[in-house]
Amino acid sequence: MSGAAELVTTIAEVRRKVALSRRGGSVISLVPTMGALHEGHGALMDCARRPGNFVVVSIFVNPIQFDRPDDYRAYAIDLDEDVRFCLARGVDMVFAPTAAEMYPEPQRAYVEVAGLGDHLCGRFRPGHFRGVATVVAKLFAIVQPDQAFFGEKDAQQLAIIQRMTSDLDFPIEIVPVPTVREPDGLALSSRNRRLTPEERRVAPALYRALELARDRITAGAGVVSARQSALAALGEFPEIRVEYFEVVDAATMEPVVQVTAPARIAVAARLGNTRLIDNIRFQHPCGSLLQGTVRNSLS
Ligand code: PAJ
Repeated sequence: MSGAAELVTTIAEVRRKVALSRRGGSVISLVPTMGALHEGHGALMDCARRPGNFVVVSIFVNPIQFDRPDDYRAYAIDLDEDVRFCLARGVDMVFAPTAAEMYPEPQRAYVEVAGLGDHLCGRFRPGHFRGVATVVAKLFAIVQPDQAFFGEKDAQQLAIIQRMTSDLDFPIEIVPVPTVREPDGLALSSRNRRLTPEERRVAPALYRALELARDRITAGAGVVSARQSALAALGEFPEIRVEYFEVVDAATMEPVVQVTAPARIAVAARLGNTRLIDNIRFQHPCGSLLQGTVRNSLS
């Protein structure tokens, strides 16, 4: 049913239509978003759109995940434009509920994934990941997808959703999608449009700092000194106020001083009033060599 994205605003209607499509043999794929759609979201939709899939995109600016009321108010989306975006992407259904539909009563039941939100963004945005996990659990219960797609751009969010899904035995495959970037390296984000021209010019320094740290570690530097080099490079830009720059274990999101397992190098910074985050995957070459050796000796 490509090219005919249908806008649905009630939970009852989503349930009815998804059940119908499941009975018809479709695999149900969910792409949760907060609208203000861009090519990063588009990549998630492209991954979800496989033959036989019924693709649902949810668009909901979730009030309970904003730690600052001004940030929530500033999160402007144009629903008509977003629905057109989904239509062009061959999405089957757009679920865009009101806050009253999602939260008819003040929410009392929350999903908390202990530990994974203690570091990185969790330290600077109290309650944020509890709000994310809770709304995603609600969307899972409403849509009951077979698969759900999340961007690696929000690596801590991805790790938390993966852990929530396995700990709570949700029968849903979580599919990670690589970060989509501008040609100069800046990760696409709905927040980029809030940058002034000068802030936009310096913003790619975040990605360059991640690459610098990765290259230093690959070349044999320790995590501590690689981090210092990256922070020094970012220190060249008075417009950039770094919140954190860390090398963390990819599954637990805990900072590491030595890279032995898959890791992520992650950064958050404020440019004026805009908060940007980014990260890259990192696997130490010796780590993969070691795994390769073990695999070979077993085969
Ligand atoms: P939002 O910021 O709209 O992002 C929706 C999805 O798009 C997330 O999985 C995010 O990681 C992914 N995404 C954003 N920018 C991307 C990029 N440049 N490349 C690849 N993927 C990208 O994340 C949220 O909304 C909310 O927290 C949500 C999960 C919907 C819960 O409210």
